[in-house]
Amino acid sequence: MYRPGGAARPGRGAQDPPESEGPESLPPDALIDLSTDLAGKDVEDTLARLDEELIGLAAVKLRVREIAALLLIDRARQQFGLQAVRPTMHMSFTGGPGTGKTTVALRMAELLHALGYIRKPKVHTVTRDDLVGQFIGHTAPKTKEALAKAAGGVLFIDEAYYLFRPENERDYGQEVIEILLQEMETERSSLVVIFAGYPDRMDTFFSANPGLSSRVAHHLEFPDYTRAELLAIAELMVAQQNFTFAPDAVAAFDRYLELRMPRPRFANARSVRNALDRCRLRQANRLVGLHRPVSRDDLMTLTVTDVEGSSVFAAGPATESTPDPG
Ligand SMILES: Nc1ncnc2c1ncn2[C@@H]1O[C@H](COP(=O)(O)OP(=O)(O)OP(=O)(O)O)[C@@H](O)[C@H]1O
Ligand SMILES: [Mg+2]
Repeated sequence: MYRPGGAARPGRGAQDPPESEGPESLPPDALIDLSTDLAGKDVEDTLARLDEELIGLAAVKLRVREIAALLLIDRARQQFGLQAVRPTMHMSFTGGPGTGKTTVALRMAELLHALGYIRKPKVHTVTRDDLVGQFIGHTAPKTKEALAKAAGGVLFIDEAYYLFRPENERDYGQEVIEILLQEMETERSSLVVIFAGYPDRMDTFFSANPGLSSRVAHHLEFPDYTRAELLAIAELMVAQQNFTFAPDAVAAFDRYLELRMPRPRFANARSVRNALDRCRLRQANRLVGLHRPVSRDDLMTLTVTDVEGSSVFAAGPATESTPDPG
């Protein structure tokens, strides 16, 4: 039931005949202004948000743009009555923790919905435990339930490699993979599956499951952020939360990153978000401790002290037991 031109919000005038009567093809010499496709507007908004909200990720952003363009062109071709096979949109997002995979999946769902590829702009996130059962006969119903919840939208399988346990040949994960394979083939379901996880383990997962791999059309790689990108992410998050760094606090946060990045369990942008949460905690405590009226500026500003209160400045060499040091 793929109809690129017959999307949730098709780019055609209200005077056009309803869809059920079958769309009239444009004459061969007609011209289509792609910018007047209403979906195109939604797509531009989503792409702009992606650019504004996410620092770096140039290759990911480019790929998202290309996918959107492909579907937009498909819609235009459809208006000329040109045959269109529903393009495969199953994807894999590989990258370390906190590199933006979940965030991009949400935007991807919005895009695919705006372009009429899926029926709802929703991401249903699952992990192995949501799909694999404990007993014989338990797995299929569980997996089908997850598929039903995701139907019409995106099924995001986080840490997908846990589905595959080569060391245990009776593992029910294999059953999940087989059900997924079937579901990914059927056009009816209007479902997009995104497999997410760390790069090396995903490579092993896909080489052990060539059937899955060949049904995944788009492999997007999310690299770890550089220190400069992490600093830019921090400044963006601070601004989004209506805070501001005192001038010298930016340099302090940069030093924080230098110390934090090599330590265990560093999780890219997620660690930045956590670190900022703890800066706010220290700021709040500092302000309350002032015992004087506070200004708007006071309430907004994160100072060097707020940053340098973190235990990474005090700690010696990183220890394995350090969770996510403040
Ligand atoms: N490039 C970026 N620019 C700004 N913020 C970002 C960027 N990448 C991630 N973030 C923020 O970092 C946090 C973690 O991102 P997200 O949950 O998308 O990462 P993830 O790759 O799914 O992580 P995990 O592997 O741990 O699930 C979110 O709050 C997100 O908004
Ligand atoms: Mg995630």
